[in-house]
Amino acid sequence: MQKLEIKGGRKISGTITISGSKNATLPILAATILTNKKVIIKNVPIVHDVETMTTLLSAIGSSVKLNKRKKIIEIINNNALKTFAPYNLLKTMRAGVLVLGPLLAKYRKAKVSLPGGCSIGQRPIDLHLKALKKMGARIKVKNGYIVASAKKGLKGCLIKFPKISVGATENILIASCFSKGKTKLRNCASEPEVQDLINFLKKLGCKINKVGKRSIDVFGVKKLKSTTHRVIFDRIEAGTYIIAAALTNGDTKITNINPKIMSTEINLLNKMKVKIIKKKNYIIVTSPKKMKSINVITKPYPGFPTDLQAQLMVLMTRAEGISTIKENIFENRFMHVSELRRMGAHIQILGNKAKIYGGSKLYGAEIMATDLRASVCLVLAGLVAKGKTILNRIYHLDRGYEEIENKLSNCGAKIKRLK
Ligand code: UD1
Repeated sequence: MQKLEIKGGRKISGTITISGSKNATLPILAATILTNKKVIIKNVPIVHDVETMTTLLSAIGSSVKLNKRKKIIEIINNNALKTFAPYNLLKTMRAGVLVLGPLLAKYRKAKVSLPGGCSIGQRPIDLHLKALKKMGARIKVKNGYIVASAKKGLKGCLIKFPKISVGATENILIASCFSKGKTKLRNCASEPEVQDLINFLKKLGCKINKVGKRSIDVFGVKKLKSTTHRVIFDRIEAGTYIIAAALTNGDTKITNINPKIMSTEINLLNKMKVKIIKKKNYIIVTSPKKMKSINVITKPYPGFPTDLQAQLMVLMTRAEGISTIKENIFENRFMHVSELRRMGAHIQILGNKAKIYGGSKLYGAEIMATDLRASVCLVLAGLVAKGKTILNRIYHLDRGYEEIENKLSNCGAKIKRLK
């Protein structure tokens, strides 16, 4: 199993180019199921989750060409697709369940494995299933599979999500593009990745109106067009490298981004005294000698993202005084804490709240990644720790971070992959 070796204590200074968003690419790929015309998707990050989704689409019969060098995916569905998505392709990636909505809407039936993914909480899919049932689907969960059918096709209706869910919004949004009549989606997720999916679907010819911050109306259509789409930047990757620069007293340009989309994160880091100069498509991060402690609650967009919580926690270990984090989205998302403690961090956990005592020195250690964002937080800790850190189980990291060792070592980090 591959590992990362990090020798801490080096500044992260230079330029880091941010990749396309994994969390935007995955629903866009699932949505290509709807069309029979050629689709070209640009700026895709070459990470395992994206490759898993392309393998899943190929397995059901899509013709998928992934050009890793150019970061382009070309897809055409010449023939009818299979409506069966097997366990071996969904076990590592929760977003695989996003093929359920489009398969059911287009082919009126689907058998999709219950998904796997990061073990950061229970992560049910009840919101997806309830909404599809309301649209007329019959759904059973049997032997680890969701078996769904809608003999007369899905019907538009009012779906008011009882809780904000990115995945449920995306799945139902895609499905409603091929449903009969009008679907009114309410209490939707408003993450930039959902907006990117809407932009893509509209280019395909879907009729979607955003009628409020969390309200989307969709009018079903029967046929779609060919299109080319460039995926938005990965705001979580950008946030991770901003924190890497701030953490190591670096002076770093983070480029290929839109800072406006990240104003919550930038304002919050400003409060910690991290200096960030914003330009149209890049920012420059410099870090003061002393950082201030803060209190943060993770929330759906435009709140502070749960996907940056672990990374921010490492930065908080460098601040003066006590910082707190309340994790509001996932119930089991503090698994990085025990590893950070092994590196010398002083952190207390009480339920979904963490108290981070600033000023503790981190030391290199042999540690283990437990999920995608936890693993990158441990990389950050390794960058600033005294001595050598060995990070095990980096397959989690490879699911979502493109060329992380290259991006960091080009900016001065001593980091290498041990095979
Ligand atoms: C997406 C992101 C993930 C991010 C998360 C929250 C992708 C591929 N993944 O995951 O990186 O951490 O949003 O921003 O885009 N829930 C239910 N029932 C459901 C669905 C969700 O109770 O049917 C709950 C979840 O357990 C969680 C909350 O709703 O507590 C939000 O989850 P959701 O927004 O659905 O996360 P994902 O779409 O899985």
